[in-house]
Amino acid sequence: MASSPHNHHGHDLELEEDHNNNHHIVLNGDSKTHPPKKPRLSSFITESEIRSEFAHHDPAIARINNGSFGSCPGFVMEAQRAWQRKYLAQPDDFYVNGLKKGILHSRTIIKDLINAEHVDEVSIVDNATTAAAIILQQTSWAFSEGKYDKGDAVVMLHYAYGAVKKSIEAYVTRAGGHVIEVPLPFPVSSNEEIINEFRLALERGKRNGKRVRLAVIDHVTSMPCVVIPIKELVKICREEGVDQVFVDAAHGIGCTDVDMKEIGADYYASNLHKWFFCPPSIALLYCRKSPKVSDLHHPVVSHEYGNGLAVESAWIGTRDYSPQLVVPSVLEFVNRFEDGIEGIKRRNHEKVVKMGKMLADAWGTNLGCPPEMCASMIMIGLPACLGISSEKDTLKLRTHLREKFGVEVPIYYRVPKNGEVGSITGYARISHQVYNKENDYIRFRDAVKQLVSDGFTCSSL
Ligand SMILES: Cc1ncc(COP(=O)(O)O)c(C=O)c1O
Repeated sequence: MASSPHNHHGHDLELEEDHNNNHHIVLNGDSKTHPPKKPRLSSFITESEIRSEFAHHDPAIARINNGSFGSCPGFVMEAQRAWQRKYLAQPDDFYVNGLKKGILHSRTIIKDLINAEHVDEVSIVDNATTAAAIILQQTSWAFSEGKYDKGDAVVMLHYAYGAVKKSIEAYVTRAGGHVIEVPLPFPVSSNEEIINEFRLALERGKRNGKRVRLAVIDHVTSMPCVVIPIKELVKICREEGVDQVFVDAAHGIGCTDVDMKEIGADYYASNLHKWFFCPPSIALLYCRKSPKVSDLHHPVVSHEYGNGLAVESAWIGTRDYSPQLVVPSVLEFVNRFEDGIEGIKRRNHEKVVKMGKMLADAWGTNLGCPPEMCASMIMIGLPACLGISSEKDTLKLRTHLREKFGVEVPIYYRVPKNGEVGSITGYARISHQVYNKENDYIRFRDAVKQLVSDGFTCSSL
């Protein structure tokens, strides 16, 4: 089976199916029919090829915020378009013969990438927000149907993502659950600080004979960003009798180490559009096969209700499923880099640490955590003289950096402790992805230096 739409580079683009019903994108131009004129010295992707893969990025912006929305190379965007064309060419045939097989192929690739036991443990959903809703909906039912007692606890980190916190409020608090936040220090200097606070929160959850029914733990927190020692925390949950553990790894695959057998959580959700080069939007939701897992359903109910979460999630009504179908093409893309996604992740970490230290040195500040507690993003203190004194200030400063200096970077407001004067209250979160250049960070460094030398403060905005 093959279709042959034209891509915007003028090649014929084909979706080919191999004997395992796997689909592959092939370019039916020079590269397929003729050998390349000059033999390549290395088979790895070159700098100029990387530049052309991300040529659609706004050249006026130093984009050091991959963490928020991720990025998608041209090759994958073309693959997505080919899937969309295939659907639009003959929707009935696509629905009957292409869609399920394509999604199963993507799930199989993901299963291997995350070292899951079985493909049935892997569902594909839209994003981490949807994955959280699936898990929390189950918790809500358990409260409302009397399986959990009112006042039983759900534990989450203070730095849980805002939307996930809202979801916990909507599903758990309303159903009678007690929500406990684990306070986390920031800046943070060791895993022990996090582990100790987590243990204390579980103790609080178990007071008065209550039980902790669910722990929601981020793998990499969003703001401020820190890699959480999830293996240790999952182990503690098991020792302390927590019923279920859900890891919110919106920044998981491609950003940090993701191995389901090592982590041992019941549920693990990772976006693929943040650090795995998929177009928006796609996330994996891993649900460990165990007798406990019984009542998980996609919140959008359709024909497949009751056939298992993975099957339910593969048809939630008529819509564009192309982001879920391009996973094989993304794998092809990442395998053009030395050591594939592992190599990309490793080099991003090394480079973001190097750039973070460079900025902290230039501004006379500090990192938000030691390098081993960060992945492909890191927090750097901004000079205290910028006068960041509220979240509103961080938004204003971020806009100012974008509009006046062409730098896109999120900023975190750290509330000073009682009696603290002149301390760092603003931290920038920088990301590193394959398209970034040292100049992106130098532009940011110089923008902040200029603000300092101009005597700028946030109150002037
Ligand atoms: C920790 C965390 N959880 C959840 C989300 C939500 O991800 P999405 O918007 O893709 O659903 C994010 C997004 O940045 C995040 O950082």
